[in-house]
Amino acid sequence: MYQVIILAAGEGKRMNSNRPKVLQPVGGQPMLGHLVETVSGLGATGVHVVVGFGAEQVKAALGATGCRFVEQTERLGTGHAAAQALPNIDPEARVLILPGDMPLIRAETLQAVLDAKADLTVLSFNAVDPTGYGRILRAEDGSVRAIREHRDASPSERAVSEVNSGVMCARAGDFTAWLSRVEADNAQGEYYLTDCIALAVADGRSVAAVIAPRADELLGANDRAQLAALETVFQVRARQALFEQGVTLLDPSSVQVRARVSAGRDVVIDAGVVLEGEISLGDEVSLGVGCVLRDCHLGAGTAVKPYSVLEGVRTAGASQIGPFARLRPGTQLGEGVKIGNFVETKNASFAADAKASHLSYIGDAEVGARANIGAGTITCNYDGANKHKTRIGADAFIGSNSALVAPVSVGEGGTIGAGSVISQNAPAGQLTIARARQRSIDGWKRPVKAAK
Ligand code: UD1
Ligand code: MG
Repeated sequence: MYQVIILAAGEGKRMNSNRPKVLQPVGGQPMLGHLVETVSGLGATGVHVVVGFGAEQVKAALGATGCRFVEQTERLGTGHAAAQALPNIDPEARVLILPGDMPLIRAETLQAVLDAKADLTVLSFNAVDPTGYGRILRAEDGSVRAIREHRDASPSERAVSEVNSGVMCARAGDFTAWLSRVEADNAQGEYYLTDCIALAVADGRSVAAVIAPRADELLGANDRAQLAALETVFQVRARQALFEQGVTLLDPSSVQVRARVSAGRDVVIDAGVVLEGEISLGDEVSLGVGCVLRDCHLGAGTAVKPYSVLEGVRTAGASQIGPFARLRPGTQLGEGVKIGNFVETKNASFAADAKASHLSYIGDAEVGARANIGAGTITCNYDGANKHKTRIGADAFIGSNSALVAPVSVGEGGTIGAGSVISQNAPAGQLTIARARQRSIDGWKRPVKAAK
């Protein structure tokens, strides 16, 4: 049994942002969200988030996750921050303390820290450039004896490349006792969590440093350039996860995954595709160049052609979308449906084999099986105050450039003549035309220019 404290009260000045640093997104999700997801997966019995700068924003962002929040009203250092949450935790419980800006840390790595048999465990790594990090100071026998912050370190201490990741684990009661003895007599005038190490050593307690094999998962972000570096690491991982599911990426580095994706076998994703939110792709789905998908569930065999934008779309099976289609929330397509270029749909269902091949707006509509919607058809769903529904029966044929003024229906097998404005229900099986009758005027003369 263990609990987690996430330190997330800092501002992150160097981001030059209106939002707190821990809410900067990586892979489309706030950094803090990734961390909470990872520790929840590990089975933490409680997650305590220390908030301060932008506290309300942070609480709102994590609202549904079951985290407990504790406010640090003054930023007096990482030790002071952790001390705010400790009174809410059983002194016997083990506590894993994490910095809030470490979104890429993997569950396996945290598990290794939890598995270490020591009274106090710190997660360290070997930094190529240790500038800014706390250095792990070891005795001749290799045992850890202290962490020295960069700004307090001597030149020889600064030469040490093993650094503190910021992750620590001990019993809550021990942290409380050590932190009550920590003083702020250092270069930053702060209460350092890292001073617990030397205190534990002085008490004769066992201290271990688990060295993380890979530094990339411990990266934090203090500025936008570091945030971009985190994004790159995240994207490489996300693409790897797609490969493992059986997805082909034709130009991997151009595909951006800002989503939770589940994919079937033999999915093919072309260059420049962006995935957001919750995405599920059935077997053999294909996504053409430049498509953007958010919160979509595409059935097996769905083909989305280039430059289509889909949000909140469900397809039952093989259907064809695009190129240049815009499908908005509430769009549902049955098997064999075709939505062609420059067609916009919203809150519209298309039964099997229905088609809208060109230049249409179909909103708040039900389209029956095999119905064919001609180019330029518009459902006039909005009267300026309310939305109304259009029902198009199975096997109906809507002639080009028709306006269907909702609420309205076209019966099964009904045909609408091109250019009609349909404002009353059109019966099944009949041709309905609502446009001025064509006539030709015999003997009509074109005007001629008047003589000057
Ligand atoms: C800290 C560690 C350092 C380590 C580095 C890893 C200390 C004293 N130093 O330094 O050894 O190498 O992380 O990145 O712990 N925070 C609060 N309240 C505060 C101060 C900080 O909530 O009063 C939070 C911040 O929001 C941040 C985390 O604690 O999420 C770490 O604070 P930060 O100021 O980034 O510490 P570093 O100087 O990076
Ligand atoms: Mg930091």
